[in-house]
Amino acid sequence: PIPVLLDCDPGHDDAIAILLALGSPAVDLLGITTTFGNCRVDKATYNAQRILALAQRPDVPVASGAAAPLAGEAHIGDFIHGATGIDGPDLPEPLAPAVELGAVEFLRTSLLAAPAPVTVVATGPITNVALLLRDHPEVGDRIAEIVFMGGSIERGNTTPAAEFNAYADPEALDVVLTSGLPIRMVGLNLSHQALATPEVVARMRAMNHPVGRACADLMGFFGGTYSDVFDFAAPPVHDPCTIAALIDPGLITWHKSFVAVETEGRWTRGATVVDLHDRLGEPPNVQVGMTLDVDGYWELVLDALERVGS
Ligand code: BDR
Ligand code: CA
Repeated sequence: PIPVLLDCDPGHDDAIAILLALGSPAVDLLGITTTFGNCRVDKATYNAQRILALAQRPDVPVASGAAAPLAGEAHIGDFIHGATGIDGPDLPEPLAPAVELGAVEFLRTSLLAAPAPVTVVATGPITNVALLLRDHPEVGDRIAEIVFMGGSIERGNTTPAAEFNAYADPEALDVVLTSGLPIRMVGLNLSHQALATPEVVARMRAMNHPVGRACADLMGFFGGTYSDVFDFAAPPVHDPCTIAALIDPGLITWHKSFVAVETEGRWTRGATVVDLHDRLGEPPNVQVGMTLDVDGYWELVLDALERVGS
């Protein structure tokens, strides 16, 4: 299995990403680190622990990380994820405490201790990973690749130009994008294909175990805010696309491009600039996810959820 460290801000879709990683034999989840984002970081940590309790996997370590971005104030996504960050289901209380180490130190020691390079997946504002690369550049060759959910080749969802994770910490995303490490990007243009339709949600509920029911309840709340705020008929389940990309890279078509993030624009701070047609002549630095095999994606996710719950 692929060794993975998952940095996240659970978060409805982050929760599904955690469960997908736990339920797939192709992934070895070495640990979870948390960040501010969909909620404050203390809530994100608690939510990650509750999802692990739901999956009966308190053995997976959780380390708490950044409370704020590299610059400026924390922007919190409670308008989509509710006051807890994960409104909707009744989740069990944590079965294990968070580890003593902070996220950056946990990532550093885990990378150095692993027998082979590890894949780092980021599904929230990418502050922890940026701090790791900035303060401990020597771990770079212990990272197999960075797969992140953020940005878009198109428009944003937090400002007209910027996607939430990129907007929440553009300076951090800039550190990652300019790191020279292998990077894959799952942006909104890809994740908006991963809609939890009523059929998908019905299949979650029909699993008839606590994991399936909790996922259906997560999608119920998430679908409600996506309908109210964005007028979507079904919620896009962004974050698990990163884990799906590891399990079966063929589910997604990729286009290698130069990608940068705007840190200065008056209206466009946090916008990703994806040079699909090489207009800038800059060296390509990111494999950008373009199209998703939607049926294949949901088979993979539902199969993993079924496995975690039974
Ligand atoms: C991203 O922002 C959060 O709302 C989701 O968890 C996802 O990571 C989508 O823009
Ligand atoms: Ca997220």
